[in-house]
Amino acid sequence: MLTPAQQDQYQTQGFIVLPGFKRADEVAALRARALAIVDAFDAGRHHSVFSTQDQARRSSDEVFMASAEGIECFFEEEAFDAQGRLRQHQRLSINKIGHAMHDLDPVFEAFSHGPALAELATDLGLQQVQLWQSMYIFKQPAIGGEVKWHQDASFLDTTPTSVTGFWFALEDATRDNGCLWVQPGGHRSPLRERFERVPEAQGGGTRMLALDTTPWPDARAPGTDAVPVEVAAGALVAFHGLLPHWSAPNRSAQSRHAYTLHATDGRAHYAAHNWLQRGRLPLRGFD
Ligand code: FE2
Repeated sequence: MLTPAQQDQYQTQGFIVLPGFKRADEVAALRARALAIVDAFDAGRHHSVFSTQDQARRSSDEVFMASAEGIECFFEEEAFDAQGRLRQHQRLSINKIGHAMHDLDPVFEAFSHGPALAELATDLGLQQVQLWQSMYIFKQPAIGGEVKWHQDASFLDTTPTSVTGFWFALEDATRDNGCLWVQPGGHRSPLRERFERVPEAQGGGTRMLALDTTPWPDARAPGTDAVPVEVAAGALVAFHGLLPHWSAPNRSAQSRHAYTLHATDGRAHYAAHNWLQRGRLPLRGFD
């Protein structure tokens, strides 16, 4: 599916943009399904999650961990006012849905599998695709949060590194509404940090461990080597697990919905310290 030139670009730049990868009707179906999930989500059940109390933090951790094999909605940090009430409609307050819709929801399942994705994964060097997580990201108007510079390999660690991101634009992504930014070639830089489970004996939960001090790019600095990836709805951006990427807060009136899938290669060893582990749900590839 990829031309030799495209494969070469992926090797040297660490990412590739494939405009029109999904049809408009496929995008519309996924968007409609995501809104239905949000509408069915009982926010009251989770209000305590956003309190700073220890007990609440523990229950928040549990909700997060359980989402590895479930379908959970997470609010934007700025969704609530000082009284704990939503500032805008619930549909405009959710940061993301995660993390197993691709296995559990028929509409997401259809969007997340098929020969086109299987072929692309092969072209990107993944021989035994293991699809660990799906995220529907809303990047809401006005309150859409920044996603700080990171590498996806921090969250899905394998030896050797194999995690690959598949980022689908469900709306036009522009600099105004918080498109993805990447550092071309940055996939050859070291892994900066690792998000890992803390053993129960040390208090449990999760932590971010610093590994390397190589600085992140600064998209706002003059002469930056970071580039915006402005794409139209339907485009797929595939990128290497070590590629540094970032997205700005969305202060515009336009949302920027996107859907991501993260896959590793079954030939690589999947770390036991990764937050995301599968128990009851079997792992599938793109087939
Ligand atoms: Fe990411």
